Amino acid sequence: MYNAPRGTTDILPAEQAYWRFVEQKAAHVCQLFGYQRIDLPIFEDTGLFVKGTGETTDIVQKEMYTFEDLGGNSLTLKPEGTPSVCRAYLEHGFNNLPQPVKLYYFSPIFRYERPQAGRYRQHYQFGIEALGEADAVMDAEVINIACQFLALLGLKRSNLFINSIGCPQCRPTHHKALREYYTGRVDNLCPDCKIRLERNVLRLLDCKQPGCQAIAVDAPKSIDYLCVECDDHFQKLQSYLSLLAIPFSVNPQLVRGLDYYARTVFEIQPEEEKSQSTLVGGGRYDGLIETLGGKPTPGIGFGCGFERIILNLRKEGIIVPPVPSPQVFFAFLGENACQEAIKLTAALRNADIRVVIATSPKSLKAQLRHANNLGIPKAVIIGEDEVKSGVVVLRDMATSQQKTIKPQDLAELLK
Ligand code: HAM
Repeated sequence: MYNAPRGTTDILPAEQAYWRFVEQKAAHVCQLFGYQRIDLPIFEDTGLFVKGTGETTDIVQKEMYTFEDLGGNSLTLKPEGTPSVCRAYLEHGFNNLPQPVKLYYFSPIFRYERPQAGRYRQHYQFGIEALGEADAVMDAEVINIACQFLALLGLKRSNLFINSIGCPQCRPTHHKALREYYTGRVDNLCPDCKIRLERNVLRLLDCKQPGCQAIAVDAPKSIDYLCVECDDHFQKLQSYLSLLAIPFSVNPQLVRGLDYYARTVFEIQPEEEKSQSTLVGGGRYDGLIETLGGKPTPGIGFGCGFERIILNLRKEGIIVPPVPSPQVFFAFLGENACQEAIKLTAALRNADIRVVIATSPKSLKAQLRHANNLGIPKAVIIGEDEVKSGVVVLRDMATSQQKTIKPQDLAELLK
């Protein structure tokens, strides 16, 4: 007996209504804003993530599913979507298209993390990326899409946090201040943060350990070190969000766990939850395309895990539309009736009616019980007498009322 690997989940038929609902709303909101769908491979060259996601990130350091294929190439199951989209942008010459290029995607994402509620080793992500526009209008649009998506789903209990972590020009002064602040407190840091102090000081603000979080409260804030351009960008973003009536809080400790971010970073978190349960995470990555070998091209986007969205749909008691289920069960008795049933069910499906036909000979009672167990509202019954008279019996499963009708009237009646 095998089980699904640790940290993975099977999406069973009973769950599908939630998944289809979320996917449909995501696609719908993207269409509202003029984003086009892109589907990319599940694995990429390992170097894409080492360079793109960043060598100092937890993802690259300890979470990637990397393997060598039979040709000796090092490949990695996608640990996030953004570098892949940038790779495709470069590979297909999207810089020649009207800018910005606005894309959305759905993809399984793989990270070797410690599994817990809402945290999996394979999760499914809805993401968007807008490439080729640096203006804060773009930042506001991307955040607007995330908020409208949650609103379309009916989710109400979440909060938007934004921050600006500056650009390569102004960031070094903030990092210097952070390093000085943390060096004086190094003895009280967790072992991971001691390493972060050497490698990527910004990530110290992001630590989830209570001791480190307490120290982070008074740490130098990136917004106090922004250059004029970054400050202007951040102010504009805030004014556009206000224009859109999108409530937000500036959270100076929000830095996000990926190396490529510059200027705007944002997260949407469910109310009364810790940041581990973040619903949507995103930000601007103006240097990423250049890091991957392209011309300087600004970009911004977000990612959002289906599993966490669905967890919150359930928590908020949101009812989702059911996946279309069979409309009619076809019961038969005897070989001639079986043949007639095969023909009639085929005709009904051609008329777009969803039909389940009985299989293996059973008593009529057993067949109807089966229809009931499947929750199918109507049954058609056909025996040798009906075959001879050229009719069928249509039964309402809830009331047990039956009427005899001509087979050619079935489709119309069932519709
Ligand atoms: P991220 O914050 O690593 O960002 O992930 C985005 C979202 O994916 C999270 O907010 C969460 O909903 C979901 N997620 C992440 N890890 C897990 C997990 N282990 N289990 C379940 N859900 C998870 C990115 O991946 C960036 N690529 C987002 C982005 C796009 N930034 C700019 N463009």
